[in-house]
Amino acid sequence: MSKFMGWIDARFPATKMWEDHLSKYYAPKNFNFLYFFGSLALLVLVNQIVTGVWLTMSFTPSAEEAFASVEYIMRDVEYGWILRYLHSTGASAFFIVVYLHMFRGLLYGSYQKPRELVWLFGMLIYLALMAEAFMGYLLPWGQMSYWGAQVIISLFGAIPVIGDDLTQWIRGDYLISGITLNRFFALHVVALPIVILGLVVLHILALHEVGSNNPDGVDIKKKKDENGIPLDGIPFHPYYTVKDIVGVVVFLFVFCAVVFFFPEMGGYFLEKPNFEQANAFKTPEHIAPVWYFTPFYAILRAVPDKLMGVIAMGAAIAVLFVLPWLDRSPVRSMRYKGWISKVFLLVFCVAFVILGVLGVLAPTPGRTLLSQVCTVLYFAYFLLMPFYTRLEKTKPVPERVTG
Ligand code: HEM
Repeated sequence: MSKFMGWIDARFPATKMWEDHLSKYYAPKNFNFLYFFGSLALLVLVNQIVTGVWLTMSFTPSAEEAFASVEYIMRDVEYGWILRYLHSTGASAFFIVVYLHMFRGLLYGSYQKPRELVWLFGMLIYLALMAEAFMGYLLPWGQMSYWGAQVIISLFGAIPVIGDDLTQWIRGDYLISGITLNRFFALHVVALPIVILGLVVLHILALHEVGSNNPDGVDIKKKKDENGIPLDGIPFHPYYTVKDIVGVVVFLFVFCAVVFFFPEMGGYFLEKPNFEQANAFKTPEHIAPVWYFTPFYAILRAVPDKLMGVIAMGAAIAVLFVLPWLDRSPVRSMRYKGWISKVFLLVFCVAFVILGVLGVLAPTPGRTLLSQVCTVLYFAYFLLMPFYTRLEKTKPVPERVTG
């Protein structure tokens, strides 16, 4: 074996990569359960790619046959039903995992210096993931696929001067048609997965260059032993590879329960109108995007003017990109920040969830008002951050991690 590895290592840095990223990558010893979600995101990514490849083998990307080919996968293809449910549940699981992964970043200030690029690559992944989910949703060619895409693509029409041409360019037709379906298929199964995989590699390379943050926000590289190994660091492999298995098992229990018993999740993971084939002449009574887009959809609807609504929705995502430069706090972790930061983070999370719920419901004057309040609170968290993080009194950060 060692002779074989010697042969490989003389030609390819296999052992070096193993050591740099696993057996000699020293991660802080105080990771908690919130650190499971990075490896769980990787697991879900692999699930989406593998099940996606198998679904593609039996799916027909044309307006005439797409809907029927999904029914064929569900009823006639051997294990087709489980492939589809793994993929559709996987899409929602991806966003649950990624939202918790991002929340961990907010909680422990993981986006702060020197991890700005880790955060930026993460945000690019998030954007690509949203595009991937949006395009994938058109493929089964159900009523919600069609009308959801219709609503979102028509938003680009609000852009002055180029709006109409732009929507036509995206659709490749005067209305959403088989041409749109075909290009979304190409982007969903080939282009975006490559982009996402590439970004994930960059995300992890950037992280391993600077080292992981931790719940204390303490820089473990400041205290090293005589061999240059951080005193509060432990090798990722075997310690965290084994620990992550716990997260994987718990995750798989929940995931499999959904796949086997509630794959539609009451219409939240697979929406009811999507069991009916797309019909350009029949608008569903109530059009709402899938749950993971609804906070942003609620922000869009909170603004009365269409163009301003689109701008507000874009800004809600764009502001996350500049987060590392909005936080002026001398400390990273919420454990040592002052009470103002804690209150703002809590209010932000509550507002985000309320927006998510409002985005699913049909608008009423009361709900619109509530979504306007939550939109203001959403932006307040970011735009006031440079002030409250500088003004508030922080607690002293310990020299070593607290366990
Ligand atoms: C496909 C999606 C993603 C995958 C596979 C992924 C993977 C990972 C992995 C494996 C880690 C190291 C383990 C951990 O700290 O949990 C990590 C860390 C990190 N990720 Fe992601 N990630 C994804 C999306 C995102 C997004 C959308 C963001 C935020 C915009 C983000 C921000 C971060 C940050 C800040 C860290 C460092 C955390 C720390 O050291 O405290 N990631 N990611």
